[in-house]
Amino acid sequence: MNLPKLDLPANAFIHPNGQNQAAVAQLFEQVMDLLLCEMGQAGRRSPLPPLTHLPDHYIPNQGIPETELLTQLKAIIQQSMNAAHPGYIGHMDSIPSSASILGDLVAGALNNNMLSVEMSPVLSRLEPLLLKEIAGIFGLPETAGGVLVSGGSLGNLQAIALARNSHFPILEQGLAGLEKPPVFFVSAAAHTSFKKAAMVLGLGSTAAVAVATDRRGKLDCEALEAAIAQAHRNGQAPFAVVATAGTTITGNIDPLEPIAAICRRHRLWFHVDASYGGALAFSPDHQPLLRGIDQAESITFNPQKWLYVTKTCAMTLFRDAKAWQDSFRIGAPYMGEADDAINLGEVSLQGTRHGDVLKLWMTLQHLGRQGCSSIIERNLALTQVFLQKIRDRPYLKLATEPEMNIICFRAEPGQGAATDRDGVNWDDWNSQLQNHLLETAKVFVSLPLYQGQRWLKVVLLNPFTTLEQLEQLFQALDQFVARPGPSRQRLKA
Ligand SMILES: Cc1ncc(COP(=O)(O)O)c(C=O)c1O
Repeated sequence: MNLPKLDLPANAFIHPNGQNQAAVAQLFEQVMDLLLCEMGQAGRRSPLPPLTHLPDHYIPNQGIPETELLTQLKAIIQQSMNAAHPGYIGHMDSIPSSASILGDLVAGALNNNMLSVEMSPVLSRLEPLLLKEIAGIFGLPETAGGVLVSGGSLGNLQAIALARNSHFPILEQGLAGLEKPPVFFVSAAAHTSFKKAAMVLGLGSTAAVAVATDRRGKLDCEALEAAIAQAHRNGQAPFAVVATAGTTITGNIDPLEPIAAICRRHRLWFHVDASYGGALAFSPDHQPLLRGIDQAESITFNPQKWLYVTKTCAMTLFRDAKAWQDSFRIGAPYMGEADDAINLGEVSLQGTRHGDVLKLWMTLQHLGRQGCSSIIERNLALTQVFLQKIRDRPYLKLATEPEMNIICFRAEPGQGAATDRDGVNWDDWNSQLQNHLLETAKVFVSLPLYQGQRWLKVVLLNPFTTLEQLEQLFQALDQFVARPGPSRQRLKA
């Protein structure tokens, strides 16, 4: 019998006998050249390039010529958010390490599946070993372990799911038999993923009880004690407290040790969302900022943020890995088993999963602890310079005192030098300042809503951001503030 003829480009796949290697290499090299050329010029594009046209979305009958494919790819690259630009300092998006770009490529080429050991014999064994090592860096004991997930939201969901399951006898029958509704506590500045987790877990989003922060943006422990007592009076069943190490908007660290003590006293699960700030553990000088994280039952950490690994790369770590695996495991009968390793897809939320561990492993091997720590130290030194420039300007005010490389500030000239500006809508004014900084200084800062007001947020994590760039940013800022009348008139509330 004759099988139908394949109607494919010569390099549609890498032939397992290598017979089309030249054709494949030509495509790979062209894409690689384009990528290296464009990434090597990222500093010449805007941090947020304008969107002028989207690629063709219709599916052609016949594959398009490679030259056309490359032209369209180039346009996509050039219009994409440009996190590699040293002036892209508005969010927790980092320039990716070279090793992680390559790790992603190789993981894609291998196309192994983290669902089971037989589908990823090396990577399924490497991931738990590497995560145990990272758990050790956070000071968790030998019993600890973890799993990679696609982003911090899933990391938090995984942790809260286990916290809930370990607190209530609901594994098989679900929530219906519970007498009291479960609740857990987060600070008012915690990430929105906890509300989402509460909603997904059938608790209802209000089960993530928001506890007030103090004026430093940190969870207020007295308010936490009061909220726990109130929940009991309400007939609710508290089961966990979340502390954040690196809040999304202001980068503050909740008081981890006191919160751990409260959790012990009330027998509550202690989860630390160190999605961003976890990277501090790689800096011997600044690791003490995370004091108390070693007492966590679970930790979320995203190397995709401050450890420069391509997205997505996040993890949930558990103090007691065996308890996590025993309680979460749902066997997949269609998978083989290994004596020395577990099928990660059976003990975590995700089933089929990309081999993200490869890019994490490659980055850590390539940079080493010292490489990671040196970038973090540089970021924090740059932050001090930035802060001094803010303090030198009475018309700038900080949302909270920064504890890492996230600075949230706002200009209110009416409060300082230019006192004649009362009546101005400062939210709009700061939004215009954001645009001015992008246009004149090629710096993208974001504009989050914090405590009902718009603030300018800066995340100094690009290793190529220079003192000169900060100087230019502040020059542009001063220039905007000094602008005479017309904009002022427009901005009258
Ligand atoms: C503190 C914190 N936790 C969790 C998340 C959610 O992470 P992801 O966007 O990867 O789901 C973020 C995102 O910025 C965050 O800042």
